[in-house]
Amino acid sequence: MKNILSPSLLAADFTKLGQQLEQIEKGGAQYIHLDVMDGMFVPNISFGIPVIQSIRKCSNLVFDVHLMIMEPERYVEAFYKAGADIINFHVEATKSPGDVLAKIKSFGVKTGITIKPNTPVSEIVPYLEQVDMVLVMTVEPGFGGQKFMAEKMEKVTELVKIREQKNLSFDIEIDGGVNMNNIKEILSTGVNVIVAGSAIFGAEDVEKSTREFLKILQEK
Ligand code: DX5
Ligand code: ZN
Repeated sequence: MKNILSPSLLAADFTKLGQQLEQIEKGGAQYIHLDVMDGMFVPNISFGIPVIQSIRKCSNLVFDVHLMIMEPERYVEAFYKAGADIINFHVEATKSPGDVLAKIKSFGVKTGITIKPNTPVSEIVPYLEQVDMVLVMTVEPGFGGQKFMAEKMEKVTELVKIREQKNLSFDIEIDGGVNMNNIKEILSTGVNVIVAGSAIFGAEDVEKSTREFLKILQEK
């Protein structure tokens, strides 16, 4: 599976979004991770539809939307129209994950199901046939710049096994606390999509930090 970098815009300088997107694209990132928060599912509010719609015009990156909102079914169409290529939602945020997945798919958008650090893999097993991606959180969702929870990587190992047993091909994405010191170990578990916010946008030279990450991703 190809390794992919999905820098999280949450850590970017919002006064120059266009420029920051250009920098990660030049550095070789394939995706941009877009964290949408509603102040209900998580104790923070970030950005939403108008921002995504507006940056869509200046970027060819794959828009990897991470919905941290209650009842995501209410907004699938709106995020599709805003330009999402992948829509990740939390299994904990809806009563009918299967219906949300079907809805996402009906718009031709890639499906992603996400689990919080304390949610077991068993919660999403019934839906794995319907997903293009599983997103495993290694911090409590809501904020960037938190410490990586290494013990949550066991869930990745579990998912890799299930994927093999069921002969499926979904991507496995990891989100939260990734940096240059733990990236190699993370990749060795079978994750192939890496989210990194502060480690990329917090650097002085964003293009350079992107390139450094990519170099490690491509070694594998
Ligand atoms: C947290 C978000 C993450 C966050 C990651 O709720 O889902 O995507 O931006 O930030 P870092 O890489 O700084 O932990
Ligand atoms: Zn995220």
